[in-house]
Amino acid sequence: MNLGALSIFNGGKQLLENILQTNMTGLTGPLAFHSDRSPMNPSYDVINIIENGYQQIGYWSNNSGLSVAPPETPSNRSSSDQHLGVVVWPGGTTDKPRGWVFPNNGKELRIGVPNRVSYRHIVSRKDGTDIAEGYCIDIFLAAIKLLPYAVPYKFVLFGDGHENPSYDDLVEKISLGDFDAAVGDIAIVTNRTKIVLWILEHRLNDEFRGPPRKQIGTILWFSFSTMFFSHRENTVSTLGRMVLIIWLFLVLIINSSYTASLTSMLTVQQLSSPITGIDTLISSTEPIGFQVGSFVQNYLIEELNIPKSRLVPLGSPQEYATALKKRIVAAVVDEGPYIELFLSDNCMFSIRGQEFTKSGWGFAFPRGSPLAIGMSTAILTLSENGELQQLHEKWLSRKVCASQTSDDVSDQLQLQSFWGLFLICGIASFIALVIHFGQLFDSTSAFPRR
Ligand code: SER
Repeated sequence: MNLGALSIFNGGKQLLENILQTNMTGLTGPLAFHSDRSPMNPSYDVINIIENGYQQIGYWSNNSGLSVAPPETPSNRSSSDQHLGVVVWPGGTTDKPRGWVFPNNGKELRIGVPNRVSYRHIVSRKDGTDIAEGYCIDIFLAAIKLLPYAVPYKFVLFGDGHENPSYDDLVEKISLGDFDAAVGDIAIVTNRTKIVLWILEHRLNDEFRGPPRKQIGTILWFSFSTMFFSHRENTVSTLGRMVLIIWLFLVLIINSSYTASLTSMLTVQQLSSPITGIDTLISSTEPIGFQVGSFVQNYLIEELNIPKSRLVPLGSPQEYATALKKRIVAAVVDEGPYIELFLSDNCMFSIRGQEFTKSGWGFAFPRGSPLAIGMSTAILTLSENGELQQLHEKWLSRKVCASQTSDDVSDQLQLQSFWGLFLICGIASFIALVIHFGQLFDSTSAFPRR
């Protein structure tokens, strides 16, 4: 406004002076001005507009601030007084709105969700509905609740429901503008982060472990000491030596059987799978299984230079098990969380070698999306307050494998396998004891007390 261009009419100064000298009680209360021309004791009613009407919910004055007490009431403007009556918000609710709606030109965000057909607890379509559910969905819902603003969104399931969708395609749909974000077990891998995308990490808690294996077998100290230190013991009598020789023979059999059993267990296992880790797998020519739709296929071809002809797509944990049992594949390469879930149902397989790369999972947003920052903070909060772990346990809890399968156990040597030897040893000890008492009786009869 070009105020300088305005001119003052005749008597304007006089009018201003008269206004500044006002001292009266008007409709809004006392009306007067300070020498700096600011109004003296200004005060206002605070009203809450409800549809076509309104209700008074308090007052504001310089002295009292926002208060339910009228400005005339003496007040010290303490923070406990700084409140208004109950506000009725648009929509008739008294719950305080979380702030402005996330701006998307008034449209709901379209959030792509993988419609998984294996490991469905992670994320997939709820049977018989169009609703998405699972571990990742619950994380998203918990995180979005923590945002200080409302986000209108709808989940759009991605995938034909017959096989796991390609996650690369899902992520690409964000850069193409088909989706505003993607929520799921999306691995954070370089080629995905290169296309305008931000992937928020919500690393699984890797520390999800079963209870330690039970130690089996309790052997008496005496048996141990006999096994390992018997050669140091002094045997005086012939009978004692006889019993000891039988016992040592028993120990020899047990030791040799134990050594033989252990050796065969180790050797047979090595023979059954020559794969000891990713290096032996790469250098072999054996076929390798991977999860349909996963980045793992590209990773094996592009990063580990494994020929495509060696790769076998597997659609489900059941297919992993069949392919491994029938030796269609020598190994399956997949991300840790899937393998751990698979192993918890298939105890006859195991992980060979070390983890050779680390990749977390995340949700994907267009680069620069303000939502990404809010969600990142929210997921961090969920991780710190333990809610993430609770969701993990709710959806992805795993069974713990017993240490051996029943077939293996039946083939192994047990303590009862040696019952015959123990019987011989027991009988020999008993006979030796009887003879010993017999001799003792004879010797005491030969030398009667004087
Ligand atoms: N986590 C995999 C991926 O992101 C899908 O199984 O490719």
